[in-house]
Amino acid sequence: MINTVQYAPIKVPSEDYDAELALRETLLREPLGLALSPNDTQEDMHQIHIGAFYNGTLIGCVLVAPEQDPEVFRIRQMAVHMDFQGRSIGRQLIQQAEKIIQQQQGKHIVLNARTSALGFYRRLNYQTASAEFTSNTIAHAVMEKHLID
Ligand SMILES: CC(C)(COP(=O)(O)OP(=O)(O)OC[C@H]1O[C@@H](n2cnc3c(N)ncnc32)[C@H](O)[C@@H]1OP(=O)(O)O)[C@@H](O)C(=O)NCCC(=O)NCCS
Repeated sequence: MINTVQYAPIKVPSEDYDAELALRETLLREPLGLALSPNDTQEDMHQIHIGAFYNGTLIGCVLVAPEQDPEVFRIRQMAVHMDFQGRSIGRQLIQQAEKIIQQQQGKHIVLNARTSALGFYRRLNYQTASAEFTSNTIAHAVMEKHLID
């Protein structure tokens, strides 16, 4: 099945972006009893969106956001449909994001990880860089990674 998953950019706006919003809502907000807020989406058009597609259907996404320092980028809204979790799709999405960040001369990545996903990011060589804090009702920690040339 993995061979049929394709990774491609998502334009904002587009039908794929509508599917991305639905996926983010279902995977990242509804389990917390929340809905996607303007705060979640207001910078979307200035960020890079990468989708994982299975037979043309969006099953995963991740966003790359520039930070003020041009060498620093933020990874956000990482999600893989529950039926496809545990099949390296999250890893592939992060690797695609890192490739794009390197192409843009990025040297450092930061993200806010839910504590339930800390192990995922650790497997991809991210390190915890803060104490735990609450965001969107659940515990998070800052994680970071320095990219090697
Ligand atoms: C977290 C998430 C993105 C992981 O995606 P995935 O496609 O299931 O992950 P992968 O199959 O690529 O996993 C890569 C590695 O991380 C490990 N891993 C995955 N999720 C993990 C978790 N929650 N805790 C610890 N390890 C995890 C896998 O076992 C795998 O390890 P390996 O190197 O030994 O093979 C996915 O489970 C998800 O969308 N969860 C719900 C939304 C969410 O929590 N998003 C993150 C917000 S910060």
